[in-house]
Amino acid sequence: LENGVGRTPPMGWNTWNTFGCNINETLIKQTADALVSSGMRDLGYEYVVVDDCWFAPERDSAGNLQANPSRFPSGMKALGDYLHARGLKFGLYQAPLDRTCAQYFGSYPGATGSLGHEEQDARQFAAWGVDYLKYDWCSPTGTIDDQVRTFAKMRDALAATGRPILYSINPNSIHEKTGPQRDWGDVANIWRTTEDITNAWDTGQTNGYPMGIKNIVDVNVPLAGNARPGQFNDPDMMVVGRGGMNDTEMRSHFALWAIMAAPLIAGNDIRNMDSATSTILKNANLIAINQDPLGLQAVQVGFDGTRRVLAKRLSNGDVAVALFNQGGSTTTISTTAAAIGLTGGPFTLRDAWTNAVTTTTGTISATVPAHGTAVFRVSGGTPAPPPVRIQGAGSGRCL
Ligand code: DGJ
Repeated sequence: LENGVGRTPPMGWNTWNTFGCNINETLIKQTADALVSSGMRDLGYEYVVVDDCWFAPERDSAGNLQANPSRFPSGMKALGDYLHARGLKFGLYQAPLDRTCAQYFGSYPGATGSLGHEEQDARQFAAWGVDYLKYDWCSPTGTIDDQVRTFAKMRDALAATGRPILYSINPNSIHEKTGPQRDWGDVANIWRTTEDITNAWDTGQTNGYPMGIKNIVDVNVPLAGNARPGQFNDPDMMVVGRGGMNDTEMRSHFALWAIMAAPLIAGNDIRNMDSATSTILKNANLIAINQDPLGLQAVQVGFDGTRRVLAKRLSNGDVAVALFNQGGSTTTISTTAAAIGLTGGPFTLRDAWTNAVTTTTGTISATVPAHGTAVFRVSGGTPAPPPVRIQGAGSGRCL
């Protein structure tokens, strides 16, 4: 979406994965402070997104949304001010139908969705200083055409406010994302491509709830051609630091989200991170790969069912390469500079995890533990011509 924001994948934090409906202004403020003191804000984690359950169960007499008075007694404008004063940005959740997802499932009272209130709600968000709207289609019904129309209504309402607001949508929430995936770049800055993530490696689901890291990668990798500045596939918020996986799997999760140009939205409790979690989320090499201004999502250059090779062109002519071992035992994964679009040589390889630098005339290879991902930034050789983009083709022609 060409609305001036989301030129690189958004980075930040969202309440849902750890706190669900159990949220309040103290939690948000403490998390904002932790984003600053941990150094995460300075690495780019700027959006603080308050997901479902922040609102009062009823609109006021003029039809305006209101903050839940016991959870957010100071109101949403004050919360936005708190975030802005700390150099952070303010994200809020809403739904395009008559109720939010928690209201749909009955875990939160009321029916305060934005359907029929789009302009009024967009104006309200802008007045509160909202910088990011997560808009969640939580219904088992609605054709893709219905969804395009309804999501576009809020896109236009946000644009009419004059405030740049990053627009994040979740088409087809709670029912299977069957059928061909759509390129939603005409409607939104980021759009979910999978069902909800859970803190597990593999749930066996590729098109249902909930999905593990490996399952999400299987679905999101082929969609590379839809990513570009202003529009990115969203394989859901991260579960780094939420347990359920070992450190190798957590590192793979972050590395793969980074190279897939996914939004890097942390979902753990930032106030209480262990050092392994903080080291992963603060990996500046991977963040730089994710935030590269070319805005490309890595394309698959090799996959034998176990060993997956992904490559992402970067704006200075380097290529980031991920060697991902989906299998259950240690294996060697290899590719070549030519396979990732580089010619000439020799090349230097910088390991994104260790910073170790090696040189090669062409072979790029690593011994990768079960469920592990090696990532190298490959430099040198003959600068490749600018990447070719075929609008709407979804073909991933970006090397
Ligand atoms: C479904 C979405 O996929 C989640 O990320 C979260 O926003 C919940 N709805 C909130 O109810």
